Amino acid sequence: MSKGWTKSDWRAKPRVQMPDYPDAAALSAVEKALAQMPPLVFAGEARKLKRALGEVAAGRAFLLQGGDCAESFSEFSADNIRDTFKVILQMAIVLTWGAKVPVVKIGRVAGQFAKPRSAGTEVIGGVELPSYRGDIINGFDFTPAARVPDPSRMLQAYTQAAASLNLLRAFSTGGFADIHRVQSWISGFTAESDAKRYREVARQIQDAMDFMAAAGVTSETAKELATVDFYTSHEALLLEYEEALCRIDSTTGLPVAGSGHMIWIGDRTRQPDGAHVEFCRGVQNPIGLKCGPSMTTDDLKLLLNRLNPENEAGRLTLIARFGAGKVGDHLPRLVRAVQEEGANVVWTCDPMHGNTIKSASGYKTRPFESVLREVREFFAVHKAEGTIPGGVHFEMTGQDVTECTGGVRAVTDEDLSDRYHTACDPRLNASQSLELAFLVAEALQDRRSLARAAAM
Ligand code: PEP
Ligand code: CO
Repeated sequence: MSKGWTKSDWRAKPRVQMPDYPDAAALSAVEKALAQMPPLVFAGEARKLKRALGEVAAGRAFLLQGGDCAESFSEFSADNIRDTFKVILQMAIVLTWGAKVPVVKIGRVAGQFAKPRSAGTEVIGGVELPSYRGDIINGFDFTPAARVPDPSRMLQAYTQAAASLNLLRAFSTGGFADIHRVQSWISGFTAESDAKRYREVARQIQDAMDFMAAAGVTSETAKELATVDFYTSHEALLLEYEEALCRIDSTTGLPVAGSGHMIWIGDRTRQPDGAHVEFCRGVQNPIGLKCGPSMTTDDLKLLLNRLNPENEAGRLTLIARFGAGKVGDHLPRLVRAVQEEGANVVWTCDPMHGNTIKSASGYKTRPFESVLREVREFFAVHKAEGTIPGGVHFEMTGQDVTECTGGVRAVTDEDLSDRYHTACDPRLNASQSLELAFLVAEALQDRRSLARAAAM
């Protein structure tokens, strides 16, 4: 955290992907109002997450990050939050079984509202309008009025984030996340005939829990079994919102982004001299950095130094998102650049954003097979390079949507129109998410047995 940095310095830097608000007075009133609101997270929590991510970087923990591509005002409900949280908990148990280390759980939630877009405008039926940029900026409806950036949306996003986080905190510690309940949901999934391939793993997890119970380790005796640490994250795209929620942490005297535990820089906004890097470099939170095919080794080295000059463990998470079939073209050179710098980072795999295609029916979708293939390629590169594949990053929901194709309860191209609800990119549904966790866990298990075999 650089000396002399201020939370407004980004304003003097080139910015991309941010709205031009037509009403400057309205914007400034909203910024003032937000600046008076309490932060959503406490700096001590962000530091705790940083320590946990330091464990991931060292291979002593595994990272699971997941949630909506874009949270929306219309899909906001307690049931939606609960169902996504439920799936993340189940995935985390399955991954813990595979990785045999604790799983750090981070939601793309309680702030994931602003979206970068590949085109500034959208044309439908010969009509051209500004693109939708997420509910915190403008409206999804294809009308000129809805697409005008409206700063008051920041207040609604803040309120929704606060309410979401409040419920998630209650679920995390109030008994809902007890490992025995989570295990019974997993068994419920594998009891269905189409998921029977995963029954053996579910049985092994159940056996381990029975053994612990017999040895006297229960939710009453070990609070780790009854509660979870759950963290929030989002892309720090809308810097007026981030600045207004940035606070000075009274414990350390350092700035902290109060909008969420972890914030990340998107693949389109990671210019080393740009506004987004400038803002993120100054806050003490864990920072994510998306690395797509256009990331050069020179830029990555600059960014490592700019975002983590003290090479602090857990500070920087590199989120690889190349697309199935392309990981081998890009990840090795970036992994080596990190090694050359001696940089301490978490490497995680986002197998979603490089695998978006347009289906024959016209919907944006992602084939389950490509998602899985990218994760496997990511593991293979790290194995070859002798580095640590720290985790996975998914766009997912607890709802039974039809947005990505494939999985054991196969969603076909023709099914996409049934329940396609995303406000932005296609998400894995509950069953696809859990299935993927089983497959990733099996891959992790293979890695472990290979490591054991090599040591014998
Ligand atoms: C996202 O995570 O939703 C996103 C837009 O990712 P990226 O910046 O990697 O394209
Ligand atoms: Co997305």
